Amino acid sequence: MKKIQISPSILSADFSQLGNEIKRLEEGGADMIHVDVMDGHFVPNLTIGPPVIKALKKSSRLIFDVHLMISPVHKYIETYADAGADIITIHPEATEDLKSSISKIKELKKKVGVSLNPETKITTIIDFLEDIDLVLVMSVNPGFGGQKFMPDVLTKIKELKKFQKEKKINFDIEIDGGINFENSKTAIEAGANILVSGTTIFKSNNGDIKKNIKLLKSK
Ligand code: DX5
Ligand code: ZN
Repeated sequence: MKKIQISPSILSADFSQLGNEIKRLEEGGADMIHVDVMDGHFVPNLTIGPPVIKALKKSSRLIFDVHLMISPVHKYIETYADAGADIITIHPEATEDLKSSISKIKELKKKVGVSLNPETKITTIIDFLEDIDLVLVMSVNPGFGGQKFMPDVLTKIKELKKFQKEKKINFDIEIDGGINFENSKTAIEAGANILVSGTTIFKSNNGDIKKNIKLLKSK
């Protein structure tokens, strides 16, 4: 079984203190940093882009797990790679040609993630599962932090696990949206090995990041 990793989403951090927030995450034992990039078009919210990622990356050793909720995504892949993304995750609906977007990320020597919205079926990406490093299963509709977890997506995680066993392939399964101390356990049991969390990491237990990461990892 893969090691359980936590990827805190800085969407719930104090944006006026982002450098310090990243330091707090490092000290608190985060395995990576989840950066939610939104364009006000693919999703109805706007967040941060390449210059901010570049500035943060300079002062951190952690893996930058960049979740692109932008469309059309293809022409921006290189910009995010240059800014310092280590994992680049895209949505199939945001590109005209998923195959060439996956190849582009690989050419740039970055890890490739593909994300499934709650209503997006595995069949959309089934032909690509052997070429990608990570599947990001959305457990809320993308756009905002602090939404309610949708338990139905756990079925999708179980299907992905089954597929991995049958085909003997090994991509990571990351879950994103509404993760708390209760559903983290069911997500891990279903087969997720990377948990994204914004609200729970930054707001629970008076923002005790170390404690919250530990609690999310415990089974
Ligand atoms: C939603 C984002 C998530 C989300 C996580 O579009 O992709 O990363 O903000 O935040 P919480 O844990 O608050 O749902
Ligand atoms: Zn995300």
